[in-house]
Amino acid sequence: MGLKVIILAAGSGTRMHSDLPKILHPLGGIPLLEHVVTTAFALNPEKVHIVYGHGGEQVRARLKDIHVDWVEQSERLGTGHAVQQAMPSVATGDMVLVLYGDVPLIEVRTLQALIDEAHGGLALVSAELQDPTGYGRIVRDGQGKVQCIVEEKDASEQVRAIREINTGFLAAEGGALRRWLDVLDNGNAQGEYYLTDVIARAVSEGVEVRTVGPRVNEEILGVNNRLQLAVLERCYQRRQANRLMLQGVTLHDPDRFDLRGELSTGRDVEIDVGVVLSGRIVLGDKVVIGPYCVIRDAHIGSGTRIGAHCVIDGATVGPDCRIGPFARLRPETDLAGNVHIGNFVEIKKSEVGIGSKINHLSYVGDTSVGCDVNVGAGTITCNYDGANKYRTEIGDGAFIGSDTQLVAPVKIGAGATIGAGSTITRDAPPDELTLSRVKQETRKGWKRPVKTKKREV
Ligand code: UD1
Ligand code: CA
Repeated sequence: MGLKVIILAAGSGTRMHSDLPKILHPLGGIPLLEHVVTTAFALNPEKVHIVYGHGGEQVRARLKDIHVDWVEQSERLGTGHAVQQAMPSVATGDMVLVLYGDVPLIEVRTLQALIDEAHGGLALVSAELQDPTGYGRIVRDGQGKVQCIVEEKDASEQVRAIREINTGFLAAEGGALRRWLDVLDNGNAQGEYYLTDVIARAVSEGVEVRTVGPRVNEEILGVNNRLQLAVLERCYQRRQANRLMLQGVTLHDPDRFDLRGELSTGRDVEIDVGVVLSGRIVLGDKVVIGPYCVIRDAHIGSGTRIGAHCVIDGATVGPDCRIGPFARLRPETDLAGNVHIGNFVEIKKSEVGIGSKINHLSYVGDTSVGCDVNVGAGTITCNYDGANKYRTEIGDGAFIGSDTQLVAPVKIGAGATIGAGSTITRDAPPDELTLSRVKQETRKGWKRPVKTKKREV
């Protein structure tokens, strides 16, 4: 005797106009269905069943790491028929909770209240809407007791005027639900087996049908098209933003913040507008992220400031660094503490030691940079010969003059100085000046060419 959650997810999602099944469309970077599954698991169920149909294989593949029971509904004969597909694994005494794969923002506490109300009978989540068009209406008697649900397409003018609607969320005792489902018929406007018809069955047996309301109406909103998806995306982002602000994060504008993954933050973190965070992100104490940064799978150390318009992906940044504006840190970048990476600098698969600076217009790839190194403007590690990649090593305290090419594989010794404009193809010894440069000359009396006058025709 436990909780059995049945998630209805057999819809085709035609109005998304997409090759991707609707329930796999992301909300905050996570498939719609996964949000529902996560909420379901928060209720400590004995089992979670997903009733799937269209695009089923793709859905199963995407959620393969989640331990649920997949139930195929090969013909879409209605919500009652869909629930029936999962009933063989429901026992008398179980509590059954019906959720929807395309209604992602339902909250655990609303569902917990629903389950509490359903003990010994049946309960549903209802809501009062300004515009109830399209929903099933909750019909009550003179004492306010629920009598039945009438679908919009089957409703009279009088019933259509009712503003209390069925959200679809329902909980009921397993044995009773099976009994009610077994006698459903499809003699209605849509020729479907309606789950909602179990309400009238319950009432006819003298079972009291209870209702609970959502905390906020966004909980009951479903996704049928991309416009609705976008509305829910903003709701979801606002929820995350509110949570982060209450945890002590400063968001310069919570309506211009996007988190598509997991973020953990230290104290006094500050995030400017237009920042998009995805994957797993850790921000230490006092990290400041400037406007319009895109950061994915990154660990940013305490006290580090990221300037405007940086793109950081798969990188680890130590404490007290200064990054950007306009810097790009690519995967396997590992910066130690107090490193400065300036504008139009790209770093890939490289480690940079404490106190080193790469401040302007450089590419550093497949490189290990020691501590207190200064890499001058326009320095390029030539790591690729068109076929293979090679490493560059720059020792502690080295100084690389501006506009230098380091043709890998190559080593720059500790304390070495490389003259500006050099193309370094062989290892440079430590503590010496190495340069490769054409000797400067002055051509006395040389004149600039003048424009030759075109002959008129
Ligand atoms: C349903 C309710 C309606 C409620 C509304 C809330 C019924 C008969 N009506 O209507 O009272 O106001 O939801 O949005 O239940 N599904 C399946 N297999 C099926 C049919 C549906 O898995 O055979 C799934 C769909 O993918 C969808 C959900 O069930 O996620 C609801 O189905 P839908 O056809 O959209 O029901 P509504 O007509 O909106
Ligand atoms: Ca619907």
